[in-house]
Amino acid sequence: MTFPTPPLLSWSALILSTSPVIMANVSKMEFPILRLPILAIFNVFSMMNPFEIINFSTSSSKCRKIVKFYFRPGCKYELQLHIMNGTAISFLGARNIWEYEFTSEEKEDNILKHHESNGTKVEKLMKYSANIAESLFNLLKRLDDLMNFKNIEFFLFEMGRYPLQNDLIIQEIKNFKKPIEHFEIFSDEDAGNDIIDMLNHVNGIKSLDLTASFNKDFELSCPPNLSWLYIHDSKWINLTKLLELNSSEIQIRDHELTDMDLCAFFQSWISSESHSKLEKIEIHSVERETFENISQTLPHEEDDYSVVLKVNRLKTREVQLESFYIKRNDGTWATIYLVQNRRPDGLTLGMLVG
Ligand SMILES: *[C@@H]1O[C@H](CO)[C@@H](O)[C@H](O)[C@H]1NC(C)=O
Ligand SMILES: *[C@@H]1O[C@H](CO)[C@@H](O)[C@H](O)[C@H]1NC(C)=O
Ligand SMILES: *[C@@H]1O[C@H](CO)[C@@H](O)[C@H](O)[C@H]1NC(C)=O
Ligand SMILES: *[C@@H]1O[C@H](CO)[C@@H](O)[C@H](O)[C@H]1NC(C)=O
Ligand SMILES: *[C@@H]1O[C@H](CO)[C@@H](O)[C@H](O)[C@H]1NC(C)=O
Ligand SMILES: *[C@@H]1O[C@H](CO)[C@@H](O)[C@H](O)[C@H]1NC(C)=O
Ligand SMILES: *[C@@H]1O[C@H](CO)[C@@H](O)[C@H](O)[C@H]1NC(C)=O
Ligand SMILES: *[C@@H]1O[C@H](CO)[C@@H](O)[C@H](O)[C@H]1NC(C)=O
Repeated sequence: MTFPTPPLLSWSALILSTSPVIMANVSKMEFPILRLPILAIFNVFSMMNPFEIINFSTSSSKCRKIVKFYFRPGCKYELQLHIMNGTAISFLGARNIWEYEFTSEEKEDNILKHHESNGTKVEKLMKYSANIAESLFNLLKRLDDLMNFKNIEFFLFEMGRYPLQNDLIIQEIKNFKKPIEHFEIFSDEDAGNDIIDMLNHVNGIKSLDLTASFNKDFELSCPPNLSWLYIHDSKWINLTKLLELNSSEIQIRDHELTDMDLCAFFQSWISSESHSKLEKIEIHSVERETFENISQTLPHEEDDYSVVLKVNRLKTREVQLESFYIKRNDGTWATIYLVQNRRPDGLTLGMLVG
């Protein structure tokens, strides 16, 4: 694969139309950008999109050095990686997305596509590759060398997309070393060991979304400082493992916890034995009877109207059916509630702290 070279606006047109500072001393005929002071060049870069900057960097080794210097404090674009149907590296700006999307159709190579989605302009440059997983990481590494990414803001990994390449992908992710803030993993197969391997080597995960199947022995040690954890298939979670999930917000679905397990969980919270940082937990697809059982078992607190509880600001797409208040032994309030949501599995049991 050759280095991506998307179309670039004509340099002089770009500069003359957008930069009064540079206009002052740039001849309309010739455009000696490399003779500009570095800050003026950076000023030009700040008005270019990432495709244009990357293209500029390929003109010469000097151009490349200048671009690297420009990005030395860190890349200002948000970096996203998708390994799915539509495997891509994307840069997010305020209202734009620039994306390299890989294709196995050779005739699509270097085609630039535009579309608009929900007010965001998407500019997509297609890149042909016979080995998409490998090309993706080769491009990522070259772009990182040039643009100095702070992290991967969002990474979606469908492990069934290139199953024969998963070892390579996982190795590349581990080698990449930069934090991944929002990590979503999908797998139809039991991928427990691979997922643990990745979680042990990736830093800075703030949000983790696991839509994968696991066997009953699976044990998840949550990354530190996790603020969001979603587990789609939670059949492997028993009380011990539930008490060890460490995240400010937890969502579980398809679980096999008993009413007694759930009561024990809430009781452990009430006595400050676990989940001191928990702000919200939602357990999807419960029976109404489970809520009744929990409600009968746990001590209720009288509604205190002087406390404005966060539960009053729950999302409106959910219909709150029932709720009651509990209090932790340090005086912290929480609301336990049952909501009807639009999903087919209907009822969700939740606890919202504060
Ligand atoms: C990259 O930029 C150059 C000008 O520096 C331009 O001539 C060329 O067309 C651009 N590349 C592509 C693929 O458009
Ligand atoms: C261009 O003009 C700016 C201010 O107008 C000046 O600081 C800069 O040195 C000039 N650059 C060149 C290459 O003459
Ligand atoms: C991939 O997505 C395209 C539309 O973007 C769709 O036509 C195609 O069927 C999808 N392929 C698979 C294997 O899901
Ligand atoms: C569209 O954008 C608005 C505001 O940015 C956002 O709240 C909404 O969720 C978006 N809708 C979709 C379908 O992405
Ligand atoms: C939960 O499962 C683990 C094995 O995965 C086991 O060690 C632990 O004792 C179980 N806890 C309960 C409460 O059953
Ligand atoms: C949860 O994570 C925090 C750091 O983010 C740590 O201080 C705390 O000990 C962890 N709790 C458990 C039960 O692992
Ligand atoms: C967790 O967050 C705290 C405070 O935000 C920070 O001081 C600490 O370094 C973080 N730990 C890790 C492992 O990121
Ligand atoms: C609720 O508790 C009763 C009695 O403890 C039990 O028989 C019933 O199965 C429980 N309901 C559910 C949904 O587990």
